[in-house]
Amino acid sequence: MRTILILNPKGGCGKSTIATTIAGYFAMRGNNVSLADCDPQCSSSDWLDIRPENLARINNVPVKKNKLLVPNNTDILVLDTPAGIHEQKIASILRVAQTMIIPVLPSPIDIRAAERFISDLIKLRKKSVNRKIKIATVANRVNEMTIAADKIEDYLYNIKLPNGRKIPYMALLRATQNYVHAAEQGKTIFELAPSRTYYDREQWKPLLRWLNSKRSLP
Ligand SMILES: Nc1ncnc2c1ncn2[C@@H]1O[C@H](COP(=O)(O)OP(=O)(O)OP(=O)(O)O)[C@@H](O)[C@H]1O
Ligand SMILES: [Mg+2]
Repeated sequence: MRTILILNPKGGCGKSTIATTIAGYFAMRGNNVSLADCDPQCSSSDWLDIRPENLARINNVPVKKNKLLVPNNTDILVLDTPAGIHEQKIASILRVAQTMIIPVLPSPIDIRAAERFISDLIKLRKKSVNRKIKIATVANRVNEMTIAADKIEDYLYNIKLPNGRKIPYMALLRATQNYVHAAEQGKTIFELAPSRTYYDREQWKPLLRWLNSKRSLP
């Protein structure tokens, strides 16, 4: 089983949007996908509750006392995590994943929070907490052609680990109501009209290519 973790303790950066989109994408491609919502706000599991039955099925994984009851035949497990998650919980959740995506919003406050979070991650790696996990960043909810867009790209392009390797910056997702409309129907943007979501599908391609390649696996 492959486990993909979406994590950034900063609230509202797009974790649930990205977790549900990734779950939907892999389910559409015929994988047996499970989605675990570790957030008491239940955004992802609420999305699963309203997901139309004619769309690719995704298992809703109950999280009980920090234990995940994942169906045996799961190919891909997607983990959505809550805002404000503490270091101890981060460490335990990191241990179960092969791949991690960090969404970041284009604002100075979000960039500073991401800097702190990534420096905490580096400390956890030093303590040997799942050093093999492959990490990528995503700029989310970006209004293109703005100074804020340039700044987030500049920041994400240049994040390095202590070994000098860059954390790959894999996608810029624009701010669009398409995500909001998809979410309110239990769908992903891949299940809305292609004409309306063409640009968004293109923006997802590098991240999906990475997720489908060995580069995103330990
Ligand atoms: N690219 C986008 N364009 C427009 N709206 C977006 C985009 N990404 C997310 N949103 C909207 O922003 C809000 C926050 O997104 P989301 O719930 O995915 O963030 P989150 O990180 O899961 O939040 P929390 O930390 O509270 O769990 C939601 O209303 C979502 O529909
Ligand atoms: Mg969420």
